[in-house]
Amino acid sequence: MARTPNHSLADLLAAKEMVVVCGSGGTGKTTVAAALGAQAAVNLGGRVLVLTVDPARRLATALGLGSFGNDVVRVPPEAFADAGVECRGELWVAMLDTKAGWDELIRRHAPDAALRDQVLANPLYRNITGRFVNSHDYIAMERLHDLHSSGDYDLVIIDTPPSRNALDLLDAPGRMKEFFGSRLLKWLTVPYRSRLFTMASKPFYQVADRVLGSRFLQDIAEFFILFQTMEAGFVARAAQVERLLTDDRTTFVVVSTLEAAPAREARFLAEELRRRRMPLGAIVLNRTLPAAVRQSAVAKASTALRDVAADTAQVRELAKASGAKPAEVKRVLGEVADRFRDVTVVAGREAERRAELSTAAPVTAVVPTMATDVHDLGTLLELGRHLSGNGSR
Ligand SMILES: Nc1ncnc2c1ncn2[C@@H]1O[C@H](COP(=O)(O)OP(=O)(O)O)[C@@H](O)[C@H]1O
Ligand SMILES: [Mg+2]
Repeated sequence: MARTPNHSLADLLAAKEMVVVCGSGGTGKTTVAAALGAQAAVNLGGRVLVLTVDPARRLATALGLGSFGNDVVRVPPEAFADAGVECRGELWVAMLDTKAGWDELIRRHAPDAALRDQVLANPLYRNITGRFVNSHDYIAMERLHDLHSSGDYDLVIIDTPPSRNALDLLDAPGRMKEFFGSRLLKWLTVPYRSRLFTMASKPFYQVADRVLGSRFLQDIAEFFILFQTMEAGFVARAAQVERLLTDDRTTFVVVSTLEAAPAREARFLAEELRRRRMPLGAIVLNRTLPAAVRQSAVAKASTALRDVAADTAQVRELAKASGAKPAEVKRVLGEVADRFRDVTVVAGREAERRAELSTAAPVTAVVPTMATDVHDLGTLLELGRHLSGNGSR
């Protein structure tokens, strides 16, 4: 089947079933994921689900997300009506709950009920799962797989956890597979009796036993032995989750601001996605300078103000007209001129980074910094219009 290229984010959303929104922390991933969902529900119709990770409290409340849990809730149609929009489809939202996600995995992969209960009751279980490197990342991908394969939604958009490194997310399923094959796990699960027996003679373990209590090492060994009984299930599942990331029905959206560090990270991420054959559909440049201050008139005004500030006769005249002292007028004009010049410098840098970044993906969407934080459906929809290219630039 020939694939038509996607010319806008709206086309991309229409063509895909899973959208992974990623990028550096604080660039607006959560906001963009929610706005894409709202936009898709309004314009494309169908059932759209946004799986969000760390929404600001006010945004969560606006979307009807209460406490944590794996529950999926529908944004009430009245909320769209209140925002003055007719919504053709349904917008559903859920919050990622890593702990509930792990419990779910254990329930799925445990060979029997007794083992399941033993793992869930193991004193180390909660502690350890909370500390697994990339635990959030893996569970996020796992939930994406789950929600998509439920067949309940036409489109699943997933916000991603604030990782130290966005690559952690892409590598999470692979790491899960590796973990089961690792020497660490093999070592931990050597029949613990024999290991404890040989270890027991070593001074370190004698001290450890005295300090930690004799069940401590046993608990660790038991936990990993139980865990290993689920190896086959976990590994097969991680492989499925991994395949999802290169699936034709999946697309990645990288969110970045036009500041130096996030822009660099976004280029790197785009490159890594390509290397892994994970389809990058679009780059969203968020929180850009509004169009009004990007125009060349701003630079001209800045120069003109500087000239006026340097012209003694004009300054004196303005001072007389305003009732201020000439020195004050000169200072104010100079400062305003400097501010405008700073803005033009930033605009120049933004334009360069924008040009560089827009070659990295088939679609680039630009969203200016909105007048307020994005905490309600109305503002989300407004942001969504920028995303689909229908907002003023
Ligand atoms: N275009 C924008 N204009 C104004 N505020 C924004 C914009 N995009 C995001 N924000 C605000 O920035 C903050 C961080 O956004 P968020 O989506 O939580 O980032 P991330 O998920 O990448 O950490 C939030 O308070 C959000 O409301
Ligand atoms: Mg976030």
